[in-house]
Amino acid sequence: MKGVILAGGLGTRMSPLTKITNKHLLPVYDKPMIYYPLQSLVEAGITDILIVTGGPHAGDFLRLLGNGSEFGLKHLNYTYQEGEGGIAAALRLAEYFCGGEPVCVFLGDNIIEGSIKDAVQEYKRQKRGAKILLKEVPDPERFGVAEIVKGKVKRILEKPKRPHSNYAVIGIYFYDCRVFEIIKTLKPSGRGELEITDVNNRYLELGELSYSILKGWWTDAGTFDSLRRATNLVAEKNLGK
Ligand code: DAU
Repeated sequence: MKGVILAGGLGTRMSPLTKITNKHLLPVYDKPMIYYPLQSLVEAGITDILIVTGGPHAGDFLRLLGNGSEFGLKHLNYTYQEGEGGIAAALRLAEYFCGGEPVCVFLGDNIIEGSIKDAVQEYKRQKRGAKILLKEVPDPERFGVAEIVKGKVKRILEKPKRPHSNYAVIGIYFYDCRVFEIIKTLKPSGRGELEITDVNNRYLELGELSYSILKGWWTDAGTFDSLRRATNLVAEKNLGK
């Protein structure tokens, strides 16, 4: 299974912090943000990894990560997203890299306490389609939200004003190679982006979307408040609190 970390976009929500660096290089406690998704993939046994980045500071990823030796990797792959056309637009750039294999997609600003090992094994057994991970949150309106009826996902809404559940769709997704065909059919959303939620809803329509609830805490780190929260959670974990 391939791994793709999406670290494109311009991080404008976090200006002026992102004026002179990329959002995913900002510190989360004692490491740059990008370290956490990278560690999570490697820990789950996914070692063939592509980083999609963009913006004016993309070169700094190479200086920071090189070929990933700090993570026990022999090689890391990089590609460049022009502009910020959305998460699905960034993922589209991974088509050639994936070469028909399934892929675990990790948003570069998502950090988890535990492991995705179990989810990787479950998805391998599933063999085709897609898998999403959910987590109950107090502020679902900030995320993609899954409506669950009788234990099944009924639909996913992107940042609904009145969420039907507290289950956020977290930024870790598993897809088979058909994801790239699905992305080609997408139209930009109201915010002008190709949405990953539209990809997931397409798999749902096909009856090929499974889900699991992630164990341990999860947070994004793409706003001032969530970056602070991420820093606190990582610090507490490292200090064994
Ligand atoms: O964090 C989980 C949430 O991430 C999901 O619940 C939502 O369904 C999903 O749409 C996404 O929501 P955000 O609005 O928070 O995504 P954001 O625009 O902050 O992008 C998240 C990461 O995706 C970002 O750190 C880098 C990558 N990205 C984003 C865009 C817009 C790209 O690589 N390229 C892009 O053009």
